[in-house]
Amino acid sequence: MNKIDYLRISLIDKCNFRCQYCMPEGSQLDYLLRRELLTNQEIITLVQKIFIPLGFTKFRLTGGEPLLRPGVVELVQKIANLPQTQDLAMTTNGFLLANMARSLYDAGLRRINISLDSLNPETFDQIIGNQGRSRWQKTWEGITAAHQVGFDPLKLNVVIIPGVNDSEILDLAALTIERNWHVRFIEFMPIGNQELFTERAWIPSEELRQQISDRWGLSESQVTGNGPADIFQIPGAKGTLGFISQMSECFCDRCNRVRLSADGWLRPCLLNETGQIDLKTALRQGENPEKVREQVQQLILLKPEINFKQRDSGTDTGSYTRTMSQIGG
Ligand code: GTP
Ligand code: 5AD
Ligand code: SF4
Repeated sequence: MNKIDYLRISLIDKCNFRCQYCMPEGSQLDYLLRRELLTNQEIITLVQKIFIPLGFTKFRLTGGEPLLRPGVVELVQKIANLPQTQDLAMTTNGFLLANMARSLYDAGLRRINISLDSLNPETFDQIIGNQGRSRWQKTWEGITAAHQVGFDPLKLNVVIIPGVNDSEILDLAALTIERNWHVRFIEFMPIGNQELFTERAWIPSEELRQQISDRWGLSESQVTGNGPADIFQIPGAKGTLGFISQMSECFCDRCNRVRLSADGWLRPCLLNETGQIDLKTALRQGENPEKVREQVQQLILLKPEINFKQRDSGTDTGSYTRTMSQIGG
């Protein structure tokens, strides 16, 4: 069994974007109340008393949009300063990053993954569901600020949607030629967005690789990932290309992570919430940490049985009661 040592911590369920695939227009999201969110101190307590003793050393802050959370820099600093922390990363949409990249870096964050689904401002705005001023420029400034400050690796996440941004696959892949960035193409997943999810809603990574390979050639990269991405490289490029293929392949057997939602539920799998544990209530009711650790350990032991099942039959019964923004991507 894989070592489960990576915790994704969602800091907030709100987002300043409304990406079609994540929070489709018209989706009714009941946002958490402030008192329902774990506080910074509660997050630190859970990390120190529950997860670190169980061998967790890698942490990623997600959302919604984690930069919307008050006190995020302070939280970064606290987790980065724990002696057991070996890896601390964040996944963000980048919109607020230009002004925050330096303080996040100074607080100890070193790895950052930013969503960028298009290089075309109009397409970008269409995907993120923005009605007002274009948000592409500010997002791009966030990405370049992160690069300048020294985040390494800098990963860009691209969800390909047929008919929307699939004409940009080569342009997005080309970003890696002169820059040491990691561009990752993610297969679109049916989660919280069922109306958008038609048979044509995702393109297998293999087709993208073929397109890129026809243009420049493509080789498997020496860089190994620590997550679900298969990593390739355009020959001679400074950066890499990752392919996250949860629809066409199954990488559940190399999964190394569990997820903590902003309201304190520990979830064993992105796509299946079987057995999830309400850690916030346990903490607030003063439950004995040893007992809680035991419960978490049991869930981790069950994890190989809890994954993205029955996908191929199209009758996936994985529990999708929460959208991606609520789970933390
Ligand atoms: P790295 O540690 O940098 O490789 O991070 P990551 O790729 O795990 O993190 P990120 O937040 O950038 O996630 C990118 C995408 O990977 C998500 O949108 C999901 O589509 C996919 N992903 C991440 N974790 C899981 C998982 O446990 N199961 C599945 N099926 N997909 C996942
Ligand atoms: N399918 C695939 N990826 C998704 N993301 C959000 N919703 C989906 C979906 N339905 C991605 C975002 C972000 C990451 C955290 O999750 O693009 O990069
Ligand atoms: Fe926000 Fe990320 Fe969801 Fe887009 S994918 S709406 S940026 S949480």
